[in-house]
Amino acid sequence: MTVSTTLSQTALLVELEPVVARNLDRHLSLAKEWFPHEYVPWSEGRTFDGPLGGEAWSPTDSTIPDVARTALIVNLLTEDNLPSYHHEIATLFGRDGAWGTWVHRWTAEEGRHGVAIRDYLTVTRAVDPVALERARMTHMSEGYTNAHGDEVLHSLAYVSFQELATRISHRNTGKATGDPACEALLARVAADENLHMVFYRNLLAAAFELAPSQAMRAVADVVADFQMPGNGIDGFARKSVAIALAGIYDLRQHRDDVLQPVLRQWDVFNVTGLNADGEAAREQLATQLDALENAASRFEEKRDARAARLALR
Ligand SMILES: [Fe+2]
Ligand SMILES: [Fe+2]
Repeated sequence: MTVSTTLSQTALLVELEPVVARNLDRHLSLAKEWFPHEYVPWSEGRTFDGPLGGEAWSPTDSTIPDVARTALIVNLLTEDNLPSYHHEIATLFGRDGAWGTWVHRWTAEEGRHGVAIRDYLTVTRAVDPVALERARMTHMSEGYTNAHGDEVLHSLAYVSFQELATRISHRNTGKATGDPACEALLARVAADENLHMVFYRNLLAAAFELAPSQAMRAVADVVADFQMPGNGIDGFARKSVAIALAGIYDLRQHRDDVLQPVLRQWDVFNVTGLNADGEAAREQLATQLDALENAASRFEEKRDARAARLALR
């Protein structure tokens, strides 16, 4: 038997609202309060040049490796674009009821991430504060548009993957800094991202019960054109290659540590009751995962060959 009813975007929002309410309660019971100021080594700070006449930033002010600095900048600029993300989800999910409560709560939690990382970077002089501010202006001036902005299930699929991707990226960036304080801060941020992922993943799991073919279509489309939210950052292509070469976030992690665990939770390859489009979507998803496997292996081979060449020098 196949389910052929297609639910409208409004019907999906209404049907999922009780699931939002349940998962909001769950989230609030699990989310731990934390304070950004406790993660910043303020006593290491020094006044900068400018109106207060301190010392200008120099690359030698910090011993954090270059690639970790690049990843920190990408992660912070990604967090900085929160007003755009808020606009996107408030427009799609609405500002009322359980959906609205979630939208505002999520925004408040995300706001902490940018504050904490910026304070840390400024106090420890890990990155050029002038370049960082200019990059923030450029990036936020572009704004962010959800590639599937008027589709509820596509957006839920996207954020399920994106929150997990962000978690892994923060976690590995922390490790790459070699600085225990930075690692502790980014691990704390990553724990938030994980709870966000679980929230969205649970919603889409409910959507698989409610409208399996529409959910499958959403997942297949999102996996096919997934882009990190920071992809509009100036120089993103170059930066993301450096980040991938350092193993902070690469295709292998994207496929095996982001897509696969979430897809496994939804048990996508055993979902029943799909219509023709749902089945087609699932086949596209399988093909896409194979293509990603090949691309990830090719990248790893190239990275190994590059490492071997560098070792010979
Ligand atoms: Fe965040
Ligand atoms: Fe998040």
